[in-house]
Amino acid sequence: MAKIRKAILPVGGFGTRFLPATKAQPKEMLPIVDKPIVQHLVEEAVNAGIEQIVFVTGKGKRAIEDHFDANFELEYALKAKGKEEALEQVKAISNMAEFFFVRQQYARGNGDAILTARSFIGDEPCAVLFGDDLVDSEIPAIQQLIDVYEKYQDVVIALTKVPHDDVSKYGVVEGMKIEDRITELSKFIEKPAPSETTSDLAVIGKYIITPEVFDQLAYMSDKVEGELGLDNAFNQLLGKQPLYGYEIEGRRYDCGDKFGYIQATIDYGMKHPVIGKEVSEYVKRICE
Ligand code: G1P
Repeated sequence: MAKIRKAILPVGGFGTRFLPATKAQPKEMLPIVDKPIVQHLVEEAVNAGIEQIVFVTGKGKRAIEDHFDANFELEYALKAKGKEEALEQVKAISNMAEFFFVRQQYARGNGDAILTARSFIGDEPCAVLFGDDLVDSEIPAIQQLIDVYEKYQDVVIALTKVPHDDVSKYGVVEGMKIEDRITELSKFIEKPAPSETTSDLAVIGKYIITPEVFDQLAYMSDKVEGELGLDNAFNQLLGKQPLYGYEIEGRRYDCGDKFGYIQATIDYGMKHPVIGKEVSEYVKRICE
């Protein structure tokens, strides 16, 4: 069985919801306390055994490359100042995995972004982590999907239940529950109106995809007008091969949304090894 060794992180999006903060820096570099969102995602992947990560970048995303590269001047300065702990932290980032970067030429949708990474992935299954979704869980969310993949050997999509009025913000799936938390999908609807589905199972941006997904994206690439979404490929594959959804265990934060981002900041702040106690006391105080 093919082991999942590689991950794609599409990080080409503009981040318009966070303007002006994202005017001159990638939204993926916004920190949750002291760590950029994208580093949380890389750590999630690495903790699940991923060894190689390809970022699909675009204009204005150089800071992400710099973040995962060594920084000689900074390391030199930290060493000279005797800041050993910070030095080790900084050095560890570039050694977490092997990093690769490829640029998506036009913002043609998340399916197109994933297709851009195809020759790097080759003919094997891989993980995909979108830049907005953080999950705080005991077992890394992407590891949970890998575990399901190892059993069923097909596409696995991360799911979470959302209030029905919110379904229009997400990809939503319908299907048959075959095990606790696992659904075999019969339908994938990208951002439906609440009246279009009875399902509350929303897609969060984490997936295990197989080579057939790339074949399908490549086939559709010059046929679709406008954006090529991953949902287009999933819909074409339904009926040809099984697709599975897995309800993730853990607390999910939509960091692409201002309120979700603030929730993540507060919760991660309260758990932070250095300032956690202080933040918790502060939160308690302002709630009184
Ligand atoms: C993307 C996917 C959508 C998914 C969402 C999760 O949408 O297309 O299916 O529910 O990520 O974050 P986006 O938020 O990029 O519009």
